[in-house]
Amino acid sequence: MHVDDAITSRKSVRRFLPTPVPRAVVHHILGVAARAPSGHNVQPWRAHVVAGAARAALCAEILQAARDEPDAHVPEYGYYPETWVEPYIGRRRKTGFGLYAALGIARDDIAARERQMLRNYVLFDAPVGIFVTMDRRLNTGSYMDTGMFLQNILVAARGQGLATCAQAAFAWFHGIVRRHLPLTEHELLVCAVALGHEDPAAPENAFATEREPVEAFTTFHGFDRG
Ligand SMILES: Cc1cc2nc3c(=O)[nH]c(=O)nc-3n(C[C@H](O)[C@H](O)[C@H](O)COP(=O)(O)O)c2cc1C
Repeated sequence: MHVDDAITSRKSVRRFLPTPVPRAVVHHILGVAARAPSGHNVQPWRAHVVAGAARAALCAEILQAARDEPDAHVPEYGYYPETWVEPYIGRRRKTGFGLYAALGIARDDIAARERQMLRNYVLFDAPVGIFVTMDRRLNTGSYMDTGMFLQNILVAARGQGLATCAQAAFAWFHGIVRRHLPLTEHELLVCAVALGHEDPAAPENAFATEREPVEAFTTFHGFDRG
């Protein structure tokens, strides 16, 4: 697979088939992902991979907490702004409404939106969850490094014919993740990744997001015309 195809064929999949993913395949993907660059090659990331009973127990407890006490959990870092501004809030809304439209969920159907949001905590049925942490003793730059590792997982999964969804939603529930997985006190839960086989018949997987054209976010300087 050409690297461009691996990158451009990646999308967030939100319904997976039950087909298992062998440990050796996850191991391979993580080995490839770890070739990510990092400042001074510090490699600030760690990965905790769950499947089977470990996955089920972790998801069950988080799902219950997300249902029963959603406001009792906060992430260890700020992923989203406290105040949203344009153009970001517009893009955020477009993505949310696009997903709900694909699922046939009306904008004012709060209960159906909530049910869809809660599907995060069953990893959208993916058989494997990868919980990515970074060492909190490092600095902001290490978030970049960890992001590159994360993206490499998503792209390397494509090379194995697999699908993914990055899930910051789990960052809120690091306290519960810690009860199930042996994170050290230095590990900050950045994100989870759902990994598995895409359900090609699922309407939520047909939803395709857009991107701004290069001209909208790039200025070129010092090039000859053409
Ligand atoms: C770090 C990160 C965290 C994300 N967290 C979630 C999440 O918790 N739940 C979810 O459904 N999608 C999540 N997404 C997926 C984004 O919504 C998605 O990447 C974006 O809408 C672009 O769509 P695409 O991935 O299909 O290209 C996350 C993406 C990233 C990069």
